[in-house]
This record gives sequence, structure tokens and C-alpha cells, in this order.
Amino acid sequence: MCGIVAYSGKKAACPILIEGLKRLEYRGYDSSGVSLLNGSLQTFKKKGKVKDLENILPKEELTATLGIGHTRWATHGEPNDVNAHPHLSGNGRLALVHNGIIENYASIKEALIKRGHTFSSETDTEVLVHYIEELQSEGKLALEEAVRQALLHVEGAYAIVVIDSQEPNKLVGAKKQSPLVVGIAEDSFYFASDATPIISHTNKVVYLKDGEIAVAELGKELVIRQLSNIEQKLDVQELSLDIQQIEKGGYEHYMLKEIDEQPKTIADGMRGRLNGKEGWTRLDGLEEYSNRISSVKRIIIAACGTSWHSGLIGEYLIEEFARIPVEVEYASELRYRNPIIGKDDLVIAISQSGETADTLAAVNLAKEKGALVYGLVNAVGSTIARASHCGSYLHAGPEIGVASTKAFTSQVTLLAIMALNLGMKRGTLSNTTYHRLISALEQIPSQLSKVLEQKEQIKYIAGEIKSATNALYLGRGFNFPVALEGALKLKEISYIHAEGYPAAEMKHGPIALIDIYMPVFVIATKGGSYDKIVSNIQEVKARKGKIIAIITEGDETIKDLADYYIEIPLTEEALTPLLSVVPLQLLSYYIAVMRGCNVDQPRNLAKSVTVE
Ligand code: G6P
Repeated sequence: MCGIVAYSGKKAACPILIEGLKRLEYRGYDSSGVSLLNGSLQTFKKKGKVKDLENILPKEELTATLGIGHTRWATHGEPNDVNAHPHLSGNGRLALVHNGIIENYASIKEALIKRGHTFSSETDTEVLVHYIEELQSEGKLALEEAVRQALLHVEGAYAIVVIDSQEPNKLVGAKKQSPLVVGIAEDSFYFASDATPIISHTNKVVYLKDGEIAVAELGKELVIRQLSNIEQKLDVQELSLDIQQIEKGGYEHYMLKEIDEQPKTIADGMRGRLNGKEGWTRLDGLEEYSNRISSVKRIIIAACGTSWHSGLIGEYLIEEFARIPVEVEYASELRYRNPIIGKDDLVIAISQSGETADTLAAVNLAKEKGALVYGLVNAVGSTIARASHCGSYLHAGPEIGVASTKAFTSQVTLLAIMALNLGMKRGTLSNTTYHRLISALEQIPSQLSKVLEQKEQIKYIAGEIKSATNALYLGRGFNFPVALEGALKLKEISYIHAEGYPAAEMKHGPIALIDIYMPVFVIATKGGSYDKIVSNIQEVKARKGKIIAIITEGDETIKDLADYYIEIPLTEEALTPLLSVVPLQLLSYYIAVMRGCNVDQPRNLAKSVTVE
């Protein structure tokens, strides 16, 4: 977790760092800080948001043209001013920002204490900067060499940037398992956890690889070396990310903007990948490895959070259309239990950020065991995207709100295309069904626009249930994972306890909780289990639970039964999640806003979980 940013150039560094930190706040926001080099180091750190840091900056202009910044999500030591980054060396010469965890920090710290070091924070990061300092002064080393030697002894994950008051034009960055991008402009360098703080300044970037150290010295070329000291060839990429895409565009919250973008993001994900008129689907990743994929015996989907929920829908879709057995695993479980994976397996890693540590570890494990790894990732150039053998980008654009919305529907869209494509190739899907489903999928963006037109009604329902303390979400079949996702959205951003259940399982426990205070959200669209779900609604009503039903347009039966309802257009049953999840996203959003919660940055959560 945490976001880091660094700048060296001709302009004042502080505003560039602050702007960059604001873009990275989704990665953590319990404290932040900057160190500026102006002869000596000036360091400002503050518990809270980047706004709080801005408030303690001196009113007079800060003229330093080199500096580093950090926004934190605490792992070692509580969020406070002292534990905030940057951390300084004992002699005050070096400042360092870090994203990740130094796993062997305790033993290094103990040895350093014996040699006279004292520490002011509880962080693993402060240990690292002291260690670098010691190596630097003992060996009279250049900064990058001291960093390299220290990192040879470090276990764990890191992206770091270090500056040295005696080498005033130099930024040294290094990475292992946490992301770090270097931006190169004509007369300046940038480092950041992702490209968003960089793109308004330059579109030329280098994504550092694990075990690399980058030295950016003004007036010289960027130099990248491996920890073993071998110089690497520069792989400079040109980014096409648009800064407009990552700004709020008039919305109060990123989450609402991202919910509203879904007709477009789903269409973007389908572009060039299916055609209803001509009746084809195509994913380059599948084509590239078509021989191998045609012989897979099993698919394992590995993901976390919302991406895990889309994986569950993927399981239903792939098993239904392509008849390949699918297992969906929490990446954090898969990686720690010596799973049976082999060369006949296809592992699909689903990740919005492409940086989730557990999903990345599952990818690496699957590769070690000989499986083919397919990445379904949103963030272009992210670690999981690069670590996978093949894959497809979601093309949903940057998702900034911590609660994932548009990435989920894009993931489901891609999984549907994948299931249809595999089903067609394997002959498990009739031509008629294949064509019918492609056409239905193409209709989803315009149908979704109709769902989004019901915001006023959804807001009204939110007002009626905003004071609940518990909520239950029920769904069957393709909509069971939607129930899980609806419950997750509500608890993430409104802090209301919520549980998602397969509707029939309600009888095996949750029914005991139902009373007049319990809102029960039921996804009750037309399909194979419609009659069964109507019975489940009756069971809830008999216990006086409040029913909020997501129904198929014109369903008078459930309209009569439910306390509140939201209609969605009729589509193929397998594709209903793409429509049914959106009213649940909006309900959570409005409830959270009405409860005064920080929708885009819910407490204790972070957008990109790069710790295990
Ligand atoms: C965090 C985020 C979730 C996300 C999950 C997995 O918990 O808050 O919104 O679903 O990580 O992230 P990924 O980037 O791998 O999809």
C-alpha cells in the first residue's frame, strides 16, 4: 500500500509533489509527508489527508526543486505524524519514502541499535534509511551504491525513493514487488507508484522491474541497474492516458462518476472484441495461446475483493457456455495451501489495479507450477499484466473510488466474451445461442443507460433505509455473486453490516435475523429460478423483513410483493449481473452519502492492496 512520488527538475518541487500525492491518495490516506532539498532537507509530515499536510506547509514559497512525497496506509506503527514518511537517516543527510514491508526489519534494527542507532518511529522504513546511511558513511559510497548494498540484505517488498542532501540533483529509486514508474521529461525526472502523478508532465515512462535500481540525475541519462549491478537497457514507453480521464469531471465523488461511466466502459471493453451483426468474438490473449487453451482441462480463477466476485460470475459463465470446470479461489488462500495446479490448467488472474500482492503471488505460483496465466487487468502496464503470459485489458480507464464499480462490470463483460469464445471454439454452444448472446451483450450499454436514469427513485429508497444497521442481500444463479457484491459495496462505504447469500441458503441461518428492521435486497429478475425467488421473497415478508427487489421491467407480481423495487431491462439471464449490480452500487453510494461517510476513501481501506 502507500503512494510515493518524487521530482527533480527546474520547477518548485512542492506543488508537484502535493498534486501527485492527491492523485495517489487512493493507495492510502492515513498520513502524508514531503521532504524538500534546498541545501539541507526540509521535512513536513502530518497525520490525516494530503489536505492536512498542505495546512502545515509554510506560507512562504518553498523554492526547492527536488523532493519526495508519500501518502501512507499504515502497516508498522499507528498512523501519526512521527510514523508518517519520509523518514530520515540518523545524520539527517538522507530522506526516504517507501511502499511495502521490510520483513526482516526487526533483525536489522536490533543490529543497528547495538551499533548506536536510535529510532524515532515504529516503522520498518526508518530502519532501512538508517541502514543505507551506515553503509554509505562506512564505505564512503555514492547514494545508489549504498542503496544497492542495503537492498541486497533486505527481505520483503518495497518501492523506495531516496534523496541525499550531499548529492542535490539525484533521485534514487528501487523496487521489488511494489510498483514504481519513472517519468522522463526534457529537464526533469519523476518517480511515482503509478503514472497518474506523472502524465500531466510527461508521457515518457519506464516501469521499473523487480530488483532494479534507477538513478535519475539532472543533466544525465536515467541509469537502471539490477541489484547485481548489471546495467539494464532503458525500455521507455509512451503513455496514452488522458489526464481528463482521471479527474472528477464535475461529480462530487469519483464513485458516482465511475458508476455513470459504465455504459461507456462496458462498450470500450467490447470494442474490437465482438460483433453481433457478423457474429464473432475475439480476445487476442486467447488467440495468442489458442493451442494451449484449447487443451486446458480446468480453469482456476484467482482474485480478491470485488474481482473475486466477478470471478464467481466467470465460473458460472464459463461452465455454462464452454463446459470447462472452473474453480474460483481467493488469491490469498490459493497461494498458501500448496494447490494442485499443473500445465493443463489455465489460471485467470483478475485484478483492477494489477498490483494486489496476493493475486500477484498466485500468478507467480501458477507460473512456477507450469500453468498458463491469463491476466484480466485494468491498469495498463501494471505488475500482474506484465507477469501474466497473456491477457486482456479491461479498458475501463482509471478507477479512483476505493469501492470498485466500473472495473467489476468490465471484468464480467470480458469473462462473458471469453466464455462465449471458448464455447464457440469447443462446440459446446450452438450457433443460435452464440449469436443471440453476442447480440444481447451488445445491447447492455444502452440498457444500462436506462437503469442509470432511475437515480431519483434509487435515492428515495436509499433515504428510506439509510438508518439500518444490518442488511441482507439475496440472489440465485448468476445473481448470487451480485448479492455478495451488493453486500460488499454497502459495508465498504456506509459501514452497515451486510451479508450476501444464495437466496435458498437464507433458510439455513440468516432467516433468524429477519425482522422489521432488516432490509433484504433481493435480485429477483426473470430466469430459471424466478418462481423459487418469489417464494424466498414470501418467506422474508412472512417475517416482516423489508424487501427491496431488483426486478425485470414490467414484473407486476414482485412489484406487488416488494416494499420497494427497481426495474432493469430484460436481457439474457447469464448477462443480468451487468445490469442488476448497478442499482445496488447506486443504493450503497446514496446511503453512504446520506450517512456522511467518505465515499471515495472509506476508513481502513485502500484501492490497491500491495501488502499480503
Ligand atoms: C481492495 C479494493 C477493492 C478491490 C480489491 C482487489 O480491497 O478496495 O475494491 O476489489 O482490493 O483489488 P484488485 O485491484 O486486485 O482488483
